[in-house]
Amino acid sequence: QTPQINSIDAIATRIKNGDIKRIVVIAGAGISTSAGYPDFRSPKTGIYDKTAALKTLPYREAIFDVRYFKHTPEPFFAVLRGLMQMNFKPTVTHAFLSLLHRMEVLEMVFTQNIDGLERAAGVPDEKVVAAHGQFGSQRCMICKISWPSDRFERVVKSGQVPRCDDAFCNGLIKPDTVMFGEPLSQNFATSTKLLDSADLILVMGTSLKVHPVAALPSQVPKGVPRVLLNREKAGDLGSRREDILLLGDCDEGVRSIADALGLRDELENLWRA
Ligand code: OAD
Repeated sequence: QTPQINSIDAIATRIKNGDIKRIVVIAGAGISTSAGYPDFRSPKTGIYDKTAALKTLPYREAIFDVRYFKHTPEPFFAVLRGLMQMNFKPTVTHAFLSLLHRMEVLEMVFTQNIDGLERAAGVPDEKVVAAHGQFGSQRCMICKISWPSDRFERVVKSGQVPRCDDAFCNGLIKPDTVMFGEPLSQNFATSTKLLDSADLILVMGTSLKVHPVAALPSQVPKGVPRVLLNREKAGDLGSRREDILLLGDCDEGVRSIADALGLRDELENLWRA
């Protein structure tokens, strides 16, 4: 166990006195679970355990693999249909990202999430790198014609697999989210240089199992504090003396940081707004 030389109070002081002004966040599905959105790898509640009953899947990630989706899209649309039945609201953790933005210390949020809750919480588009894309647009995989969201939702909710109207094409209509086997969003690679000049890294709600996002924390120059807010250890977080591990629910983790900043009421008000 590497001894830690940092504390949340010390970090909060450095944010308040302007020493830390470029915070980069690396986020995953765990920041949305308290909104009711399932993550992927948590035992029992994660999407991969939930879909394990579909014995037809050759491996658990196949449901989000474009090579599998192309010939067997039904499991993906079944999961999507379930998500469409629900109405998700930003969590306290999303509100905390918005608070950092208001404090003008948020450099960038790298999110693997496709739920769009960072934006819904008030983080502006230019502060979000949606590495795996986000819901909200969809198009034919063959002719690329786009479909309006209301039509797409109607068809998916009805239990059908959405397909292009063009009889010759008949392509699958796929959300513009990134599946395994597809390239990442265009701004991902260019934005990673922000890690070089970051003053603080917050890693939240991710198992850091999927590359290339999984590699981002280890690309951060040594000496820059990295805080992990997660139920379990992830990646190499905890291996550097400057790391801080806040193991537990990330909503509680961000509340403790807001307490240290003296901004707890602001956070709760922002969340409830
Ligand atoms: P995972 O499900 O792999 O990891 C979520 C992490 O968040 C786990 O370590 C959980 O313990 C933790 N967690 C869950 N709820 C939490 C909470 N309330 N507070 C704190 N921690 C919590 O999700 P990701 O790391 O986001 O990609 O998964 C990465 C990628 O794998 C996804 O974007 C998706 C998936 O396959 C594609 O489908 C391409």
